[in-house]
Amino acid sequence: MIKKAVIPAAGLGTRFLPATKAQPKEMLPIIDTPVIQYVVQECVDSGIEDILIISGKGKRSIEDHFDRNFELEACIQEKEDEIVFNQLRHIENMANIHFIRQKELNGLGDAILHARFHCGSEPFAVLLGDTVIDAVIPATQQMIDTFEQYGQPIIAVETVPPDKVSRYGIVGGTEINKKLLQLDDLIEKPEVKKAPSNLAVAGRYILTPDIFTALEKTPRGKGNEIQLTDALRILLKHNGILAQTIEGKRHDLGDKLDFLKTTIEFALKRDEFAKPLREFIKQIIKEK
Ligand code: UTP
Repeated sequence: MIKKAVIPAAGLGTRFLPATKAQPKEMLPIIDTPVIQYVVQECVDSGIEDILIISGKGKRSIEDHFDRNFELEACIQEKEDEIVFNQLRHIENMANIHFIRQKELNGLGDAILHARFHCGSEPFAVLLGDTVIDAVIPATQQMIDTFEQYGQPIIAVETVPPDKVSRYGIVGGTEINKKLLQLDDLIEKPEVKKAPSNLAVAGRYILTPDIFTALEKTPRGKGNEIQLTDALRILLKHNGILAQTIEGKRHDLGDKLDFLKTTIEFALKRDEFAKPLREFIKQIIKEK
């Protein structure tokens, strides 16, 4: 059983500047809920309540968000707003959330290495703190179900159009079934011609503790950072790794355009916004 999750959230968020100069991209709200709250909710909906967030400089607001705020609670209680009050209590009690600081930003691989003592000898889920996957069955739950059957590390993947292949980590392998590949190749940002598939790494992983040994052996790679992809490639020499196509839609909230699209998409699903927003969009398109 997977009982622990790691959420790396220490990155600089340079693609979203200037908004991320003094606030974490993981705290940017999709309408009224910070990105990282969706990620924590995915853990909880997948049966995981022990969560380690990899934090860092300028990320204190993430800790505050999941902490209790007595002053705010008293204020909302005075207003007798039970709905908002319950929302606040829900956030504080979502899960057992631990924090560790990544003092130097040495990449995603290094961030995960910080989880070594927390995870010990257990397999664990990794959910990127800036990526939301909208799915009927939570993406992490889908992967846990596969892990229970196969017992191998799993990389979540999604199909991307050929012209976008060179932007992502791309996997190749032998098909086990429509959703699963037995990995034999993992290439970071390949040229379209050299890409083994158009299945891109999608921000969710199930990892086993041997990833820590692989990460220790991983030399600095692209951007002079320790890349998780490189460590997985080391692991692949000795271990089986699966790639699973997730049923759901991935949103990279570290990207400005994806953030805008996600906000609109999520707002159109909310009863209080759907109708007026749809009318507004129709009207501004007509005006352009
Ligand atoms: P990204 O590569 O998207 O994060 O990492 P970044 O470096 O902040 O992004 P840009 O390119 O500068 O905009 C994916 C996740 O891994 C975390 C990030 O916080 C993000 O949630 N991360 C990345 C770390 O925790 N530590 C790192 O050293 C790098």
